[in-house]
Amino acid sequence: MALIAPSLLAADFLNLERDCKMVNESEADWFHLDVMDGLFVPNISFGLPVIEAINRVANKTLDVHLMIEKPERYVKDFKAAGADVLTVHYEASTHLHRSLQAIKAEGMQAGVALNPHTPVELLEDVLEDIDLVCIMSVNPGFGGQKFIENTYRKVEKLKNMIAKRAGQTLIEIDGGVNNDNAPKLIEAGADVLVAGSFVFRSEDPIATIADLKKH
Ligand code: DX5
Ligand code: ZN
Repeated sequence: MALIAPSLLAADFLNLERDCKMVNESEADWFHLDVMDGLFVPNISFGLPVIEAINRVANKTLDVHLMIEKPERYVKDFKAAGADVLTVHYEASTHLHRSLQAIKAEGMQAGVALNPHTPVELLEDVLEDIDLVCIMSVNPGFGGQKFIENTYRKVEKLKNMIAKRAGQTLIEIDGGVNNDNAPKLIEAGADVLVAGSFVFRSEDPIATIADLKKH
């Protein structure tokens, strides 16, 4: 059984409070919040004021995924907005180790996200400093994309790397997650499943979250 983190990128922004309350009432574990700057990824989503508003209604962990250049500039601001887990991209962070320390110094869990082309082995020397690795199973920037099959191999490799160190680092999967790939991802070693369109485009999001939770 994995933690389930619905991605609010697929919510109805005109009814954000309603959708947040749905997640509150569901079996979901976390809120996954995607911040995009139009530079690191081609798309622009939402930022600090929206997260601050979500934090006022959400009663679960806020898992904030920064798809922005130089994310270290905003660590304190995302803490103030309510982030509990703050994830930066490996590809956007020149001084990744320093960024991880800064996130932890603010009392948040520190995450690192990897684009599909970035090998998990590149985390060898910082793994002990990472609370969560987010393996992107689509190219970041948009919801509703097709799951990349190579993800299973990356999860298995990373799981071994963590086990060798007897570490506690969580493995999160982000992009194209659904009921077909969820059991295989969990078997490979995934701990947290992010799901956007699969949850919010379904007839009954609460039931869809409960289904994901059953795997
Ligand atoms: C993509 C985002 C994802 C996205 C997932 O860049 O990081 O969190 O919301 O959406 P689905 O589940 O629709 O692929
Ligand atoms: Zn995300």
